[in-house]
Amino acid sequence: MFLKTEFVAEIEKLRKTVRYHEHRYHVLADPEITDQEYDELLNRLKQLEMDYPELLTPDSPTQRVGEKIRDGSISVEHRVPMLSLDNVYSINKFLDWEKRVHGLSGVHHDGFICELKIDGLSVGLRYEGGTLVTGVSRGDGMRGEDVTANVRTICSVPLYLLDTGRWRQGKVEVRGEVFLPLTSFQEVNQERETKGETVFANPRNAAAGTLRILDPRVVAGRKLDFFVYQALVDGRVPWSKQSEILEWLTEAGFKVNPCWRWCRSMSEVIDYCQEWEEKRDQLAYEIDGVVVKINSIQVQEDLGETSKFPRWAMAYKFRSRQATTLVKDIQVQVGRTGALTPVAILGPVELGGSTISRSSLHNDDEVQRLGLKIGDTVLIEKGGDVIPKVVKVIDHLRPDWARDFKMPQECPVCGAEVYRSKDETIVRCVKLACPARIKESILHFSSRKALKIDGLGSALVCQLLDKGLVGDPADLYALQVHDLIGLDRMGLKSATNLLAQIEASKKSTLSRIIFGLGIRHVGERTAMVLAQQFRSLESLSRASSEHLSLIFEVGPVVAESIRQFFKQPSNQQILSKLRQSGVNL
Ligand code: IVH
Repeated sequence: MFLKTEFVAEIEKLRKTVRYHEHRYHVLADPEITDQEYDELLNRLKQLEMDYPELLTPDSPTQRVGEKIRDGSISVEHRVPMLSLDNVYSINKFLDWEKRVHGLSGVHHDGFICELKIDGLSVGLRYEGGTLVTGVSRGDGMRGEDVTANVRTICSVPLYLLDTGRWRQGKVEVRGEVFLPLTSFQEVNQERETKGETVFANPRNAAAGTLRILDPRVVAGRKLDFFVYQALVDGRVPWSKQSEILEWLTEAGFKVNPCWRWCRSMSEVIDYCQEWEEKRDQLAYEIDGVVVKINSIQVQEDLGETSKFPRWAMAYKFRSRQATTLVKDIQVQVGRTGALTPVAILGPVELGGSTISRSSLHNDDEVQRLGLKIGDTVLIEKGGDVIPKVVKVIDHLRPDWARDFKMPQECPVCGAEVYRSKDETIVRCVKLACPARIKESILHFSSRKALKIDGLGSALVCQLLDKGLVGDPADLYALQVHDLIGLDRMGLKSATNLLAQIEASKKSTLSRIIFGLGIRHVGERTAMVLAQQFRSLESLSRASSEHLSLIFEVGPVVAESIRQFFKQPSNQQILSKLRQSGVNL
């Protein structure tokens, strides 16, 4: 008895949570959790209601087919209910479905049709006398919204059936998926960002938002597209195979996704699923799985449907690439070029087959654009490039203790003052000897176009740093034979050769030395101009921004970068060490 009351509470809580997420997804087109997370909640609820049928109520979300109709829109009844699809996330569960189907149908059927599961919104198009009359969204499966004006703006939707006339006399309804191609999705979001509006989390939400816009001219500008996969004539399916439906749809002028395949066995079906889970990023639109349908319409009719989905079809869903998680902290990393990058430290979360616990936020502007605080819950996504990124903040989950992130004024590695140039979003540490960038500084200093110390490769620089033999580029001039002998692959001969090259580099030209310092924005050509103008490093290091700006080819940004470099006391120390070592400054 005690246990049951515990479940009453859990069921109530689950129903509330599921209803909340349904509203966010279907009405607000702004979900907070992934499909997979939603399915898990719903499945847990279904399981509890199955275990305690006396607790099942007609208003439970498990008793409803789909989404709610938006207030104020025109609602249209579906002539044939628009069902959803049952789905599985694993091959084993998928094989269980096939066994069940086999047990129920008991006959040899004509294989399966595998189609891509387009991540969009299902819409039905009604044609009368061959002419498009109405477009209806899925709605709750029984009634949907009238979206005729908007679907008419989709170029791939034929306004007249191209068919030879066979089904023209009947009432034809085709069903398919309205979606937003990835390039259009990026365009829409870029535009929203410039206007300061919140961006859509994914193409599906963008398509949903677009289909609901009241002005069809705006919809037309968004480049929605439509793939069709189902057809009914006078409420029936007058074909004998799903493959024939797809072929007819193509003939009638509809856009059918070309990647569908007839598979004779489950092993071919599994190959198809795995193939597309790997290749999904090559497509110009998002898919979230594969839909497998029994090819024979006769067997489909024999199997029938439950109140929510057909028994003859199953969606194999790919592993989700979006998840929600907590931002526990924002830490700052210093890269090898001195760039400071804020990184979100996340509550570990499973995403597309790996556990994610951190995600780069790129720069301070990105943190501000997201409106992100430490303590926020965020939606993260793994795109085709498999690098996880924070898509958006889930505002209302912000706790009281959430705190702002501030980009540090000092380098978190060496403590030197950092610098952000006017034209860049990146904050940098300009200290040559900062441990985070020292290896790169030395490699650049000795590179071919700078002081040209051949033989000083990456592996050797690492050893010199590890053994504490150098801490900045000027320390190279203090190296002795006995320091080098004993390092990996370093005998007397190579040590002497290297020291000879270091010695020779003291006679390098001034422009090579200026270039070798690795000052941001000072490339080979600028270094040459600066050398000609100033004639010594001493006078360059004393030049004011104004003076530098007056030089042809040196703009204010470069001038400021040069000044920041020489302003840094430890950089000045390196210069005097170089001078004392006899480098021609
Ligand atoms: S068939 C009665 N085929 O996935 C069967 N659905 O999660 C109706 N979907 O509501 C659906 N691609 O919006 C079918 N090739 C495809 C599909 C597809 C995407 C959508 C459809 C459905 C949802 C279920």
